[in-house]
Amino acid sequence: MCGIVGFVGKRGASPVLIEGLSKLEYRGYDSAGVAILDGDKLNVTKCKGRLANLEEKLKESPLVGSVGIGHTRWATHGEPSDLNSHPHTNEDGTISVVHNGIIENYIHIREWLISKGYKFVSETDTEVIPHLVDYYYNGDLIDAVMKAAAKMEGSYAIGVVCSKEPDKVVAVRKDSPLIVGLGKGENFIASDIPAILNHTRDIYLLNDNEFVVLTEQGVKLLTAEGDEIKRDIYHVTWNADAAEKGGFEHFMIKEIHEQPKAIKDTMTSRIMPGKPVTLDDITITKEQIANIDKIYIVACGTAYHAGVVGKYAIEKLARIPVEVDIASEFRYRDPIINERTLMIVVSQSGETADTLAALREAKAHGARVIAVTNVVGSSVSREADDILYTWAGPEIAVASTKAYVTQLIAMYIIALFFAENKNSVNSEEIEKIKAAMLELPEKAEEVLKHKEVLQKFASKTYMHKDMFFLGRGLDYAVAMEGSLKVKEISYIHSEAYAGGELKHGPIALIEKGTVVIALATQLGLFDKMVSNVKEVKTRGANVLGIAYEGHTEIEKTVDAALYIPRTHDILAPVISVIPLQLASYYMAVQKGCDVDKPRNLAKSVTVE
Ligand code: G6P
Repeated sequence: MCGIVGFVGKRGASPVLIEGLSKLEYRGYDSAGVAILDGDKLNVTKCKGRLANLEEKLKESPLVGSVGIGHTRWATHGEPSDLNSHPHTNEDGTISVVHNGIIENYIHIREWLISKGYKFVSETDTEVIPHLVDYYYNGDLIDAVMKAAAKMEGSYAIGVVCSKEPDKVVAVRKDSPLIVGLGKGENFIASDIPAILNHTRDIYLLNDNEFVVLTEQGVKLLTAEGDEIKRDIYHVTWNADAAEKGGFEHFMIKEIHEQPKAIKDTMTSRIMPGKPVTLDDITITKEQIANIDKIYIVACGTAYHAGVVGKYAIEKLARIPVEVDIASEFRYRDPIINERTLMIVVSQSGETADTLAALREAKAHGARVIAVTNVVGSSVSREADDILYTWAGPEIAVASTKAYVTQLIAMYIIALFFAENKNSVNSEEIEKIKAAMLELPEKAEEVLKHKEVLQKFASKTYMHKDMFFLGRGLDYAVAMEGSLKVKEISYIHSEAYAGGELKHGPIALIEKGTVVIALATQLGLFDKMVSNVKEVKTRGANVLGIAYEGHTEIEKTVDAALYIPRTHDILAPVISVIPLQLASYYMAVQKGCDVDKPRNLAKSVTVE
């Protein structure tokens, strides 16, 4: 979704804004722009397409000045076009605004402003903001932005500059991410930390409805009532390199290779042999756990698929009924929630609008909420009762890989934690699972060595229009994630099916040459899965089978086999998803797709 950067300092704002926006490209966008103050002149350059187009324009006509705002837009209201790009300005070009989110009552505000004589040039909801600020402007920008914000409904992170107050950037956030970077003699706002990490590691995390006044001298945080807020500085400990490609061709392949480390980091100090699961940011007590009669795991996209594995793990180990819900459905389906309900929200970014709304819905009905998120200080982490951070490090590629495997680890940790507290599984079994978990980083490393089989598979299949992923039990959960990866980055239509469901429809689509990836790791289901593979083989499918090492009998049924190291069945998804990630990556590369920034997708979906 849209990316925002703002800068106030002594150096030229233009390169700082462009560099910051380039670090936010991962969020997904289709146009970009900057507004820079040159003394009391406000200049705007913006255009449709990639950041490179904007850079080209700025090369032709550079913008001078050391105060400015920049934006990458992911179109919601109005097609991607030069005109609809941000920043948007008021009529006399004295006020400029960048915005991430949706102003839900914009039609009403727009009509009201038109009745007051304001003219609009774009189709966007955002354009009401500079006009509203203009309407309220009376020589005090922060006052005008506060009054404008009071009129707006919806979600927003906003940056505003005004040529009548050329020393500052004013900002506000509500339900959209925005952070403040604190430099020496220069300050920043941004949608995410990587945008400013080359300049400072000291940041303020903003809460909803907090306003910011950014000048060269300092940063003032204000409540909507205008009271000054004291905030602790959050010091970023991870390195800017973590958000660079580090010699890999794409972020996605780099992040796939970072999985062994990410898995290890997520377990460190939490999973230790012979010791109970230790969780720092989870304060739920044994009694409260005993009291839970229902768990909802709620998430979107890849995080939802991690939730499906979480359901299996929690039900199997902790014996508590779990329902997994897509956040955008959950929030509107009037689910049964009470004080005995626990919600686990899973969100890499911690900012997904639907996930956040589901969390609020659950809290409003008295449920306790555990957040599983990768981003420290994100909205879900701040609003949940308990937090389990996945220590995946920054994930830049839109298609999630390392965040997913760490979410799986988080699911196992929670399942084991509940099982220990409920005594629902004997301690030998718990120890067995912990020992197997600690071997996962090494095993993930091992799978990464089998790239050639997948490269070969990809080179034969990348031109196909359709693909099927089959699995049973936990393999089905992984099949869903593999199928999503193929859709997201290789643009191949793909379906994931539970093996047993095949005969109830999809088998009608299998014909000579149909590509099928069949997962057959789960020992108790192996023979049944082999039967399902035979069903598609008989109808001409071209099958890649994925099974544990030693299960060579699968070769009799499939066209190509890929073996993964044996692990505890419940943990297999952590290993078996890796070949699927690699296959979709190689297919996307062969097809020449924009792997890290797939069309129409956004890394963090901060609007509904
Ligand atoms: C977007 C991303 C997906 C991600 C989903 C949920 O669709 O492209 O990769 O899985 O949002 O994001 P979250 O940050 O809540 O995990």
